[in-house]
Amino acid sequence: MYRSWIVKLTSRARFSTVCLHAGQEPDPSTGAIVTPIYQTSTYVQDELGVHKGYEYGRTQNPTRLTVERNLAAIEGGTAAYAFASGMAAIGAIATMLRAGDHVIVSDNVYGGTFRLFDQVLSRYQLSFSYVDTSVLDRVEEAVRPNTRMLFVETPTNPILSITDLRAAADLAHAHDLRLVVDNTFASPYNQRPFEFGADLVTHSTTKYLNGHSDSIGGVVIAVREDDIEWLKFVQNAEGAILGPFDSWLVLRGTKTLPLRMQRHNESGMALATFLASHPKVRHVYYPGLPTHPQHDLARRQMRGFGGMIAFELGSLESARRLLNGVRLLSLAESLGGVETLISHPATMTHASVPAERRTALGITDGLVRISAGLEDLEDLKEDLTQALDGV
Ligand SMILES: Cc1ncc(COP(=O)(O)O)c(C=O)c1O
Repeated sequence: MYRSWIVKLTSRARFSTVCLHAGQEPDPSTGAIVTPIYQTSTYVQDELGVHKGYEYGRTQNPTRLTVERNLAAIEGGTAAYAFASGMAAIGAIATMLRAGDHVIVSDNVYGGTFRLFDQVLSRYQLSFSYVDTSVLDRVEEAVRPNTRMLFVETPTNPILSITDLRAAADLAHAHDLRLVVDNTFASPYNQRPFEFGADLVTHSTTKYLNGHSDSIGGVVIAVREDDIEWLKFVQNAEGAILGPFDSWLVLRGTKTLPLRMQRHNESGMALATFLASHPKVRHVYYPGLPTHPQHDLARRQMRGFGGMIAFELGSLESARRLLNGVRLLSLAESLGGVETLISHPATMTHASVPAERRTALGITDGLVRISAGLEDLEDLKEDLTQALDGV
């Protein structure tokens, strides 16, 4: 039932073809090749109880349905549900839990995910253990009789630590836990968690999937029938849906995902190498570098290493000088867009993580994060060189 929409694609269709076409058909009323933005709150019914499958905009919208089908195919899942933000998507996943349940979470998750679990969901008799999921023995030790979910981010934000997805899936299933993977940092071009046994994959579509820094959104992709039924129900019941225009923007974004990711990967690798040899830089975190502690694992489970790089400058003052000295790189939160962004995790993306936790995770005051965009690499290196000269 869920796959009937891959009308034009053969079962052999390769990734780029899937990105471009999956879920999309010419618009039935005009033949428009691009799915229109169905900016409507309701649908007129032919007669009482007779309609075209669309009743109310929160419940069904053709533009959203198209991007959901597209994203499900891109991740290799069965069905996808699109939400108003990446956090709304993670919030929907959390509704699968019941009071008393326990969740094991990668200790270095996105600060907003930590904030949702730690400050909101902990009020509802849910408990969370933050564990270095790159060390599976620690995960095993953290399992309790009431553990229901293993929530993994890999690579993590911002330290880019890698979790072995196949081993995590085996461990989760041995204890009857759902393995949830936040695949935002890698993108489905670089990493496909379902192939390793994940049960649910989530993304902030705000990042690589939309890719153009002009939309906020999130998605959950599922494979199990019971999860699919629940997510569909919750998307309507809670109502944190992705709007039609944002759905259309993400659909436009995924058409070029493979091309953009190739360039993000190339520039990420080149900038990480450049920074690693710079005398002002003390340490570079990038899974593509042979010095990364899980480089071999990253090579096995990722097709490319992405555009995210973190590096240590030693002090807040050095970080400040660099961040204030760049001209082409933009000082901004977020990642995965066409423009190269530079940020300071300790005071920006991870400000909601308590200082001691940040220090323990390596999110020091001297840590800087770059999201490599699509500008000419030489221009990026020139800008970083001039800004590092001032450090
Ligand atoms: C890994 C990761 N997951 C989830 C989110 C939350 O997404 P959003 O900002 O779209 O709510 C972010 C945001 O930066 C993120 O980096």
